[in-house]
Amino acid sequence: MNSDLRPWPDAERSAIIALWGKLNPDELGPQALARCLIVYPWTQRYFGSFGNLSSASAILGNPKVANHGKTVLNALDKAVKNLDGIKGTYSELSQLHCDKLNVDPDNFRLLADCLTIVVATAFGSAFNPAVQATWQKFLSVVVAALSSRYF
Ligand code: HEM
Repeated sequence: MNSDLRPWPDAERSAIIALWGKLNPDELGPQALARCLIVYPWTQRYFGSFGNLSSASAILGNPKVANHGKTVLNALDKAVKNLDGIKGTYSELSQLHCDKLNVDPDNFRLLADCLTIVVATAFGSAFNPAVQATWQKFLSVVVAALSSRYF
């Protein structure tokens, strides 16, 4: 049973796994985090130790941003592998972002949206509306799980 929401229909489950299998986290993670920091500049406040974030090109060329983008996206692998227990999978990560990093949970949605944009750009027409719907549902469950400690 999916403890997060309703059970995942088989078609959605296989769509998420198929998309994830084709996606390169080490390439798309840096792009998604950089885009989030550029499009929503207030998110930079959490990354004071990352050095130069003074312009879009500085952010895109910042190795710490790239590394952390990889970390974030690779962390999604756990959710894909535990679709029925995403909330439990991310309980410690939610605690870290809430209690220690004090990240405003609204930002999870912003990063998720940036990730959807980079995935759409990478996959082009293969990222059709049905795939997008399932992908965004998956990210919504991830965002809810990361936010669980806050509420
Ligand atoms: C899909 C959403 C997200 C995921 C999956 C995620 C995942 C992670 C992971 C795996 C870590 C490393 C934890 C560790 O070292 O034990 C981390 C750290 C961190 N995250 Fe997130 N995160 C997300 C969203 C965000 C957002 C939106 C922000 C802020 C706008 C943020 C800010 C941070 C910061 C500041 C750190 C510590 C970075 C460092 O100093 O190395 N995260 N996150």
